[in-house]
Amino acid sequence: MIVDCDPGHDDALALLLAVGDPRLRVLGVTTVAGNQTLDKTTRNALRMLALAGVDGVPVAAGCDRPLVGELTVAENIHGASGLDGPDLDLPVAEVADVHAVELMRRLIVESAEPVTLVALGPLTNVALLLRRHPEVAPRVRRVVFMGGSTERGNTTPYGEFNIVTDPEAADIVLRSGLPITMIGLNVTHQALATEQIIAEFRGLGTRLGTVCAELMTFFASAYLREFGLPHPPVHDPIAVAAVIDASVVRTVAAPVAVELTGTYTRGATVVDLHHRTGAAPNVDVAVGLDVDAFWDLLMTAVRRLGAPA
Ligand code: BDR
Ligand code: CA
Repeated sequence: MIVDCDPGHDDALALLLAVGDPRLRVLGVTTVAGNQTLDKTTRNALRMLALAGVDGVPVAAGCDRPLVGELTVAENIHGASGLDGPDLDLPVAEVADVHAVELMRRLIVESAEPVTLVALGPLTNVALLLRRHPEVAPRVRRVVFMGGSTERGNTTPYGEFNIVTDPEAADIVLRSGLPITMIGLNVTHQALATEQIIAEFRGLGTRLGTVCAELMTFFASAYLREFGLPHPPVHDPIAVAAVIDASVVRTVAAPVAVELTGTYTRGATVVDLHHRTGAAPNVDVAVGLDVDAFWDLLMTAVRRLGAPA
């Protein structure tokens, strides 16, 4: 799989799950502007891989803004660095000397097997890949993205951050005809980093465990301030978990469109759960989450990375 991300506290944990679970092979990590500017999200991806002791996975920087309009980062949630909380001052690998879209193309073309794209930020890079290199589509097994919701939003009343940040990109991906799984706020708000979860991370007794605890502590303070939620939802790792073990989420096939022109609802995902529109289903929409199985996967991966055999 290729992980496209904008770390981001929950992206950071998603990267650990992706490289820490033995059932996955991460061919590359690509970064996009979203939670913070591209230089910061890229540095943060490199930091997390360095912390995890992973080398040899190329990291390439992609789009520094959405397809249309200007970038609005989520500094209120992720801080000035994009990964505020722990001290992440450590030597990191070099970023690849190639644009993320080109790295994706190469990795897909060179892979012996079809590749899963896991998208954890605005869908800008993925949309550009599909537009610029449509020949890769048959070699993409599926796209699993964190974004949208069957319910309400977190950035506007009906818009979720990743989709609101680049609605046109999401529209391109949703219309691509590829198999798509959507992990929206309706399920990610069930995976809460409670005090008990944070204590479990700390209790791993490794640097990585401590960093996860510190990341989640900062994330919790931001969610409390912004939303009045004492326990922050850990969105992005659920998309990775769904690739590792499909039974972690329950999905239903439904038509999903993105509102591009609404006066108040630009970037909202319009999920036709009850098949009112007559449109053909284009997305497997996550509607249920096995919360314990999810945390078990994540905790096991972080434990394994912290004490490699
Ligand atoms: C999504 O927005 C970002 O802030 C998170 O990293 C996640 O991908 C949740 O709406
Ligand atoms: Ca993200």
